[in-house]
Amino acid sequence: MIRTPLFLYALCGSQRKASTNRRLLEALRDHAPEGVTVEICELIGDLPIFNPDCEGENTPEIVEELAAKVRAADGVIFACPEYAHGLPGGLKNALDWLVSRDEAPFKPVMIAHASHRGDFALEQLTEVLKTMSFALVPSANIRISLLGKDAEGQQVSLRESMDHGVLDTALKEFCSRIDGGPV
Ligand SMILES: Cc1cc2nc3c(=O)[nH]c(=O)nc-3n(C[C@H](O)[C@H](O)[C@H](O)COP(=O)(O)O)c2cc1C
Repeated sequence: MIRTPLFLYALCGSQRKASTNRRLLEALRDHAPEGVTVEICELIGDLPIFNPDCEGENTPEIVEELAAKVRAADGVIFACPEYAHGLPGGLKNALDWLVSRDEAPFKPVMIAHASHRGDFALEQLTEVLKTMSFALVPSANIRISLLGKDAEGQQVSLRESMDHGVLDTALKEFCSRIDGGPV
């Protein structure tokens, strides 16, 4: 049973126009269940580098904008590539801005991953999110490899996943846990 309406905010760790992680988030957005809105964050690439001197009353407007979206979200979806066996710096920077604030704790999170590789990044992302007290919902995580596929190949993979109900099942699972549903 899903309570609607629900607002999910999606953070993509890749800034590439042709990002496969973004394609996956777009597929989740475009095929979300009735009453569930997925908005992809467009702020990550414009955030200044985190500096604790710029917190509190010195917080940049764009950081307040990001924090307000996370606060308003019923849940957050992350998708990111792996860079040099690590988490992309831009995404980590966005998360660093949220560490000392109160938006992250207990906010439900699902992770969507668009590669059959990148386990280091996934492990690091999971550790950072846990440390920030996000409420991870591992049963909703999905992994659909779009890596190395051209636009048509990516569409085929996404279509197959949708036909098998992978995206729908993951989103419904995530949404059903948002109000502390049964584990
Ligand atoms: C600078 C750089 C470093 C990378 N390092 C790794 C790596 O350590 N491990 C890995 O599996 N892939 C690595 N990759 C490949 C990306 O993680 C992979 O292409 C990813 O799917 C890209 O995501 P995107 O399509 O959303 O941009 C690297 C790519 C770049 C550009």
